[in-house]
Amino acid sequence: MKFNHEVIEKNIGLLAIFTVIAISFGGLVQITPLLFQKDTTQPIEGQIPYTALQIEGRDIYIREGCYNCHSQMIRPLRAETERYGHYSVAGESVWDHPFQWGSKRTGPDLARVGGRYSDKWHEVHLTDPRAVVPQSNMPAFPWLLENTLDGELTGAKMDILRKLHPTHNLYTDKEIAGAQKAVEGKTEMQALIAYLQSLGHALK
Ligand code: HEC
Repeated sequence: MKFNHEVIEKNIGLLAIFTVIAISFGGLVQITPLLFQKDTTQPIEGQIPYTALQIEGRDIYIREGCYNCHSQMIRPLRAETERYGHYSVAGESVWDHPFQWGSKRTGPDLARVGGRYSDKWHEVHLTDPRAVVPQSNMPAFPWLLENTLDGELTGAKMDILRKLHPTHNLYTDKEIAGAQKAVEGKTEMQALIAYLQSLGHALK
């Protein structure tokens, strides 16, 4: 039997295997160079590493599923840049593991929400969104005001971030040693707000 195109087209197993190989090539050609480009691997100027409190806030953001309704990724389209500010660039996400780009916007994009509102506004909004935005369908997160951080793992989290970026020396030993003290007793609300307020300043 001659091994020609027809053989592949009529054999579902072969067709599947060759399809996967063909698509992988396309994917690799696009993705591999990104791993070596400075634009996508290095932080942009002014992209400050998260503080101990912001790291805890970011974990609360993930725990509460904020990313299910909020993206952190402004696309380079006029309607988006007019509303949210400069479009997002890869160098803004280098400290994020995993990044919080998201894909669903039930609420607005938060990539540049830092400084848009006061801490007090965020506190009221997160405790009861309807108190400041009457038509809001965002859920309330009142427990954030009551739960406090023990900071037991904060230093370890910073240590991992430092290891992931060996050329940047993100945190000093002293900062890591003092991490627990820096967050202990603070409320989850304070941590989450510190995180939100840190977002998006490098490219405003
Ligand atoms: C079910 C969807 C949903 C979830 C989950 C959600 N939000 Fe929202 N969020 C919204 C909607 C809708 C709005 C717009 C109305 C408003 O401001 O309340 C909003 C608005 C916001 C705003 C104001 C943004 C702006 O530019 O005006 C912030 C900040 C925010 N959310 C933070 C959070 C955080 C932090 C969490 C997780 C603790 C969260 N949201 C979870 C739907 C959601």
